[in-house]
Amino acid sequence: MEQLLKMENVSKSFGEVKSLFDVDFEVKRGEVVGLLGDNGAGKSTLIKIITGYHRPDPGGRIYWKGEKVDHLSVEKSRKLGVETVYQERALADQQTIWRNIFMGRELTNRFGLLDINKMKAETQNLMNQMMGFTSTAVTAENVVRTMSGGERQGIAITRALYFQAELIILDEPTMGLSLSETKKVLEFVGNIKKANKSCIFIDHNIFHVYPVADRIVVLDRGHVAGEFKKGDLSLDELVDQLYKVAQTGSLDNNNHAE
Ligand SMILES: Nc1ncnc2c1ncn2[C@@H]1O[C@H](COP(=O)(O)OP(=O)(O)OP(=O)(O)O)[C@@H](O)[C@H]1O
Ligand SMILES: [Mg+2]
Repeated sequence: MEQLLKMENVSKSFGEVKSLFDVDFEVKRGEVVGLLGDNGAGKSTLIKIITGYHRPDPGGRIYWKGEKVDHLSVEKSRKLGVETVYQERALADQQTIWRNIFMGRELTNRFGLLDINKMKAETQNLMNQMMGFTSTAVTAENVVRTMSGGERQGIAITRALYFQAELIILDEPTMGLSLSETKKVLEFVGNIKKANKSCIFIDHNIFHVYPVADRIVVLDRGHVAGEFKKGDLSLDELVDQLYKVAQTGSLDNNNHAE
């Protein structure tokens, strides 16, 4: 698989607090990487470096499609095609689905006016083909507030794919969702893979990460405690390993994905 993002020796300090220590992390094209770790492990910090929100400490390197990126900013990261979906802030609840899909990137006609019919029609297509809405009761005109948590995640992921995101980051997308809603979110992650785009899927819960991830990276207190390809470990073995990480701070086997 072709490499999309590679980080080498990335560290991040906040004053006296060191949140990341020499982290190596990579994502390939079409790959879903599960990022696991307890509260305070550094998951969000790592993501905020990728999205250009935090500047890493000097000494680390970041590559995008093989080219070194210096001074990653929020704007630059978005231009490269990184999109983050946060559960709470993903959508404007009072607005319709079609407005949410096109928010900030509205389609216009040749007179420069909003092309509302086209935006509605495109949204309806996406809903039928990508989001799996088969009921005619839910249309592009539905207000997002009325939709379930899993469906909202789906809209946000679909929007990112529609606008050609290369790397979609989901930070705890299943938090607070029921089992059936979680299942929907996992299906949407499958859509990312089908589109040959990449995903970083952050979760505390190994049972959510395992089914969708190609590779799993475990962070512990700012270190990469372990990394392995899904095919190398069963879910039971992985759960055992995670207990060991909690106790000792590292995985005892070194199943490094190449
Ligand atoms: N802006 C900041 N200033 C100071 N310390 C910070 C800042 N952001 C994060 N930290 C610290 O860095 C460590 C890692 O935090 P981070 O938010 O990355 O963890 P996390 O893995 O995302 O945790 P959670 O699962 O709770 O979201 C924590 O000890 C946190 O207190
Ligand atoms: Mg976090």
